[in-house]
Amino acid sequence: MHPRKPIYEGKAKQLFEGPEPGTLIQHFKDDATAFNSVKKGTISGKGVLNNRISEHLMLRLGEIGIPTHFIRSLNMREQLVKAVQIIPLEVVVRNVAAGSFAKRFGVEEGKPLAQPILEFFLKDDKLGDPLVNEDHIFAFQWASPHDIDDIRLMALRANDFLTGLFLGVGIRLVDFKLEFGRLFDGTQERIILADEISPDNCRLWDAKTGEKLDKDRFRFDLGAVEEGYREVARRLGVLPAAEQHDIAAFAALSETKH
Ligand code: TMP
Ligand code: ASP
Repeated sequence: MHPRKPIYEGKAKQLFEGPEPGTLIQHFKDDATAFNSVKKGTISGKGVLNNRISEHLMLRLGEIGIPTHFIRSLNMREQLVKAVQIIPLEVVVRNVAAGSFAKRFGVEEGKPLAQPILEFFLKDDKLGDPLVNEDHIFAFQWASPHDIDDIRLMALRANDFLTGLFLGVGIRLVDFKLEFGRLFDGTQERIILADEISPDNCRLWDAKTGEKLDKDRFRFDLGAVEEGYREVARRLGVLPAAEQHDIAAFAALSETKH
């Protein structure tokens, strides 16, 4: 296979030039970081699982009319996506107090919120991704008021839909992070959902026991990290039977293909 042109390397993913103009290949790595890269590690097989989980969730969101960057799956670790200009905001939707929110407001983790809360963080590792409000966003022109209206609508709609989808498989969607990008087609510009939706950027708790099935297992050394991700994939019905035994071996196999 021809060497592909790398476009960007992030902490958990890599982007390569796609086969057609306006496309990119999104490659999911096993690397994991936490607390702005202070903690680093590898979660064997994570990339394969996140590729499948994100594909599934993006497709379901597409079906209810939320535009996404996902085009099609390429192999176990890669998907073809639309090239967008990423809006430099991490859009967090919260249903239950947890993580930085619980800490910031001194609220007990697990307390349900009276209504979903949207928060914006500036995507800037050097600054530690600070919390920002709409005045910051407009003054710095990271996004316009119209962009933020679109983003709010899509994020809240995704939250309603995903909350139900996860509850259907016995999982509580506590919070999650979305990223959006600008898609330019001709003279038109619109905002679509980009990046990924996976246990790397969602808090997912077992609805009955409260057991954490997401990246908090890695962040706080709770153990069995890959098993948590695998359980999410299994419940969503995106884990082929053959993979249940040895995700890592399959991942290694798919690596050798390109
Ligand atoms: P937080 O409680 O640490 O602010 O995280 C809120 C949600 O955002 C949680 O589901 C994890 C996700 N998240 C990311 O995807 N990337 C990040 O860098 C951080 C800090 C959180
Ligand atoms: N993205 C964070 C980091 O910068 C990790 C996290 O999700 O907490 O390391």
